Amino acid sequence: MDAISVIRAKRDGLALTPEQIDWVIDAYVRGEVADEQMSALAMAIFLNGMDRAEIARWTAAMIASGERMDFSKLPLPTTDKHSTGGVGDKITLPLAPLVAACGAAVPQLSGRGLGHSGGTLDKLESIPGWRASLSNDEMLDVLGSAGAVVCAAGEGLAPADRKLYALRDVTGTVESIPLIASSIMSKKIAEGTGALVLDVKVGSGAFMKTFADARELAETMVGLGTDHGVRTVALLTDMSTPLGLTAGNALEVRESVEVLAGGGPADVVELTLALAREMLDAAGLPDADPAAALADGSAMDRWRRMIAAQGGDPDAPSPTARETHTVVASRSGVLTGLDAYAVGVAAWRLGAGRARKEDPVQAAAGVELHAKPGDRVTAGAPLLTLHTDTPERFEPALAALAGDEAIRIAPSDAAEGLPGSG
Ligand code: URA
Repeated sequence: MDAISVIRAKRDGLALTPEQIDWVIDAYVRGEVADEQMSALAMAIFLNGMDRAEIARWTAAMIASGERMDFSKLPLPTTDKHSTGGVGDKITLPLAPLVAACGAAVPQLSGRGLGHSGGTLDKLESIPGWRASLSNDEMLDVLGSAGAVVCAAGEGLAPADRKLYALRDVTGTVESIPLIASSIMSKKIAEGTGALVLDVKVGSGAFMKTFADARELAETMVGLGTDHGVRTVALLTDMSTPLGLTAGNALEVRESVEVLAGGGPADVVELTLALAREMLDAAGLPDADPAAALADGSAMDRWRRMIAAQGGDPDAPSPTARETHTVVASRSGVLTGLDAYAVGVAAWRLGAGRARKEDPVQAAAGVELHAKPGDRVTAGAPLLTLHTDTPERFEPALAALAGDEAIRIAPSDAAEGLPGSG
């Protein structure tokens, strides 16, 4: 077997054989297939796709490239959630302790933000002392004591994906359904969860911009999970505008704590509860009542335990940015659009995200929303507050918000009858 024949086969639109797939993944991890060869193959897959049998084999080969975790000795059912990523998507933060408070164990391996979309680990690292890297034993200890653990995937888990994802990121081959589905599902299956709920985002701030693509991605991932014995369900949810009223690390932690305290924005509470119900149902706990666990403080109690068990101080004051800048409404009317991608890019440029994997992020940087689509706004009233420690970042962030599509305000009479304009 050699890399050139595998690349040629996919370049010419053929389906790869199981032997070709097993060999190329294994040889890539061993260094026998070079990065430039894998880049060419990833581009051929991006352009010509893979059928379901190829995706299944590719995923299995990536799982087999590393270790698999095993939670079968835990006395509780395990259940996890994965979001395909977006702007202001802080749902994991209230969700993991909430589901733990309802009687399931949540072993959640999360990622960092890249580009315009935020990452759960960056958000939690804005809590002083909190550690993302845990050994497998530490992960089990936190899971045992708090019922939920959110941490980085260890080096040994799906190493083929770790290498391939970094390569795709710099070769324009991220937005491919076979490659995204196999990347996410290889990690989730290797993680060893018994049940998995996928939150597949659709809209300007998501990888999948259309409903049809999001649906195909969801069906592919559900098929992969089910074939590997993981009870997997998917929800398609909107990412055309940011979730909640914040995009940025410490800002989103603050909002998540508000949700755990029984408050928080309605869209965040609604999605958190919907995903919690799905996770509990998939874990065999359909009668659990997540709304009650939010209301009676038990979810907040799990959050405090989970943060403290990973070295964080749940009572530490939230970091605040050195500088802020307010964006005001240009006219009176109804806010008909606040584009998720534009807000995500603004938050990223303010310092909440990174351009390269090794860049540091600012804990307090980000964007705070004072209105959501459907709200009435008055000329001159605050619409957004931009937060950063480095004021030279305001200009590029404002440029991201300047396009016609970023902030749309319709005169009240023109907006009458539009969804959400009441
Ligand atoms: N998240 C992943 O883990 N992999 C992808 O390919 C895209 C999003």
